[in-house]
Amino acid sequence: MPDRTPITLTTGQEAGLTEQPAPPCAMVIFGASGDLTRRLLVPALYNLACDRLLPRRFGVVGLALDELSTERFRDKLSSDIRQYSTRKQFDEAVWDDLVRRFHYLAGRFDDPAVFDRLRGLLARLDAEWQTDGNVLYYCATPPEVFGLIAEQIDRAGGTRSERGWRRIIVEKPFGHDLVSAVELNRRLLRHWTEAQVYRIDHYLGKETIQNLLAFRFSNGIFEPLWNKSHVDHIQMTVAEVVGVEGRGRYYDRAGVLRDVVQNHMFQMLAYLCMEPPTSFRPDAIRNEKAKVLEAVRIMRPEDVTSHTVRGQYGPGRRANGVDAVGYLKERGVDPNSQTETFTALKLFVDDWRWEGVPIYLRSGKALWRRGTEILIQFKKAPEVIFRELPGIPWLDSNQLVFHIQPDQGIELRFQAKTPGPSMQLQKVNMRFDYREAFEAARATGYEVMLYNCMLGDQMLFSRSDLVETAWRIAQPILDVWAASPPGDFPNYPAGSWGPKAAFDLIERDGRKWLEVVNRGVIETVPLFQECDEIFQHKLALVLKPVVAAADELIIRKGDRGNEMYFLVRGAVDVVGGDGRVITTLGPGSFFGETSLLLSEPRNASIRATTYCELFVLDKADFNRVLRDHPQFARSILDACRRRYRVTVDPDQAFDRQVRLLIE
Ligand code: BG6
Repeated sequence: MPDRTPITLTTGQEAGLTEQPAPPCAMVIFGASGDLTRRLLVPALYNLACDRLLPRRFGVVGLALDELSTERFRDKLSSDIRQYSTRKQFDEAVWDDLVRRFHYLAGRFDDPAVFDRLRGLLARLDAEWQTDGNVLYYCATPPEVFGLIAEQIDRAGGTRSERGWRRIIVEKPFGHDLVSAVELNRRLLRHWTEAQVYRIDHYLGKETIQNLLAFRFSNGIFEPLWNKSHVDHIQMTVAEVVGVEGRGRYYDRAGVLRDVVQNHMFQMLAYLCMEPPTSFRPDAIRNEKAKVLEAVRIMRPEDVTSHTVRGQYGPGRRANGVDAVGYLKERGVDPNSQTETFTALKLFVDDWRWEGVPIYLRSGKALWRRGTEILIQFKKAPEVIFRELPGIPWLDSNQLVFHIQPDQGIELRFQAKTPGPSMQLQKVNMRFDYREAFEAARATGYEVMLYNCMLGDQMLFSRSDLVETAWRIAQPILDVWAASPPGDFPNYPAGSWGPKAAFDLIERDGRKWLEVVNRGVIETVPLFQECDEIFQHKLALVLKPVVAAADELIIRKGDRGNEMYFLVRGAVDVVGGDGRVITTLGPGSFFGETSLLLSEPRNASIRATTYCELFVLDKADFNRVLRDHPQFARSILDACRRRYRVTVDPDQAFDRQVRLLIE
């Protein structure tokens, strides 16, 4: 019998497919005249309003030191939102409706009378906007006053109510070190319950970070591979182009380990490495995150020396060609500062799933590009089948890359047969791009955090144990660094690829950082500018960026040549057998091609005279490129001709031409 139960059509909303506006509430922003409010919080509230997710019954109190009237405050917000809105089009009606809900209260956080006045204002707002007694407090202030604010709210009777919920969002940094984080937790939890405290990390509001969970746990094919049997290593990079951007005073006390690694990167690590939770209940996920961070090996002092690198940027030039000052010249920074603006670390998670799999992390300011990526590098396939085939000297590992920002997507890199009669392999990729798959307005990342807090969902917020565990991992590193000044700061120029030591850290283990080499970067090498798109795409997958320190020998005369180099930044000397400098090469030039072309030992040495950034093309890739792109082979040869200033017969075989050139 066919099932005759009548079908009821539901709207998306009834079926739970679309989100509902958050429940009524009032919001108090401490630090309302600051940068965070202006750049992120208010644009996020505006985005929520545009998407009809903000409570319909809603009011805001902004509280800060500045003497401002509510009118003036609203005017300021109205002009700032036009600068910081992330929407393509500005909706005046939505904004007008939002801004009239904002009120301003001037006062000091250590003045109890201010909090009494706040209570009165919240009561008025409740009556005006029917907020049901619900209040969300947001500490968008310097961290030193988080504890004070939390206490003052309680003293004024603001943490509890017969009529509604009370929640508090605490911004990062949560503490300055382990001791202060434990103390801050103790202070907060004396006045609030854990269920009321929302410790924010805006990275968790990013779609691409939340997607890590969706990717891992809604797809059956990856989880069986997600462990030490199949994963060779993991890498995470958070690279920023910007320097400290007017935040020198804060940053100089923090450094990148506190500012980015201890929070954003450890959160990503937890999502990536945790065990599958049993549900999406906040504590089911938070338990697994806490467990995996507890399994991170705590470094002994000697490990800090061998497993960490720190750097500080000196003067240099940004990717856009603009000169940049060194960190020590930034406003608010101590001219003798030893604060690190770059770090690279090697961590291990000593649990059943990950034991022995290195996890490399690096982050820095004032680097050559902005990019947050996570790489899962799988173990290589056995080479036995290909062992005897000419032209396949080794197999590459499969790589899964999460592009978190600014590119947003997921990429799988693998090998495929090159078209043609013989068996040749080439690195190729499959890519999922958010922009192609979804239509979504750009957001600040704070929308989802505010919305979830209003709903009372703590999943995206850190529990006290997780914050303390993260500090426990970072603390020994901070201690050793504090006790042993770096000595070599500044050790990377602004706008560069970072300190040489960071490359050494991973290369010592026979591995390389993944650099996302896009077309723009490839075209910094003149030889590649004329190449077509397919060729550039191929190059992007095979070029490996390396860094050489001043005075480092890059090529030694007489060695076998296994790669050629393209110089992106810096200068090198070409040195003959008698030690004389034959010539000097600068950015845009290349070297090392002749011994690859002829399969002969290097005929000169190459020494870096400054810090150098280079792309390396391995011999096998070089041969493939020459074979598949005769135009490129000709360009190399033409350049060789110019270099050796000789004329040869273009009808000669290729290697014969090269031989004639250098003889
Ligand atoms: C903040 C740090 O938490 O994160 C900043 O304090 C850093 O120094 C920023 O620039 C990076 O965030 P995003 O979202 O730009 O990657």
